[in-house]
Amino acid sequence: MEIVFASRNRKKAEEIQRILAGHPVTVLSLADFPDCPDVEEDRDTFDGNAIKKAEAVAAFTGRMAFADDSGLEVAALNGAPGVFSARYAGEGATDILNVEKLLSEMAEIPDSQREARFVCCIALAIPGEEVHTFWGVAEGSIGREPRGAAGFGYDPVFYPAGHDRTFAEMSASEKDALSHRKKALDKFAEFMRFIE
Ligand code: IMP
Repeated sequence: MEIVFASRNRKKAEEIQRILAGHPVTVLSLADFPDCPDVEEDRDTFDGNAIKKAEAVAAFTGRMAFADDSGLEVAALNGAPGVFSARYAGEGATDILNVEKLLSEMAEIPDSQREARFVCCIALAIPGEEVHTFWGVAEGSIGREPRGAAGFGYDPVFYPAGHDRTFAEMSASEKDALSHRKKALDKFAEFMRFIE
């Protein structure tokens, strides 16, 4: 069965292919549909953005499409950066600038109050049907300086709960076992088993 992943983020697409490797699903990406218009992520919730992207790509391609929206929520910052995670340091910000901004915003926050979580919502749009959503959360905390070179985004400052290494110090398979995206994708993959 073919399904379109509504994203141009190459690193994320790689993670998703890796996690879905054991499932009878062929994941096409927007690279297979170069004329598909970009969808603006202008909703203020993860599911709002994911549903908007999945529905737009399903409508354009006429195929089943899924999209994810994810981000980091820091308790001491009232849930920021949240849906603005990708552009926390401004439009077109790099991962390094976003991490720098996060660390500076959290400079005064003591070690005992640095809890954070990654959240992922996957929306599946099946043409002619209602949209389904699947959620995953990875609990953890934010360090004081970047460590490790793997992964992307806030990985170098995120310590998953119960671990003393950041996501960026872990192998891909170690991160997958703990990640919000993997948890949401597992639920999504389980649901896909029941679709013709
Ligand atoms: P999205 O493409 O709108 O879902 O943006 C998600 C943003 O949240 C990314 O650009 C990262 O800044 C952050 N993010 C989401 N998932 C992860 C992750 O697994 N590791 C590190 N950062 C992440």
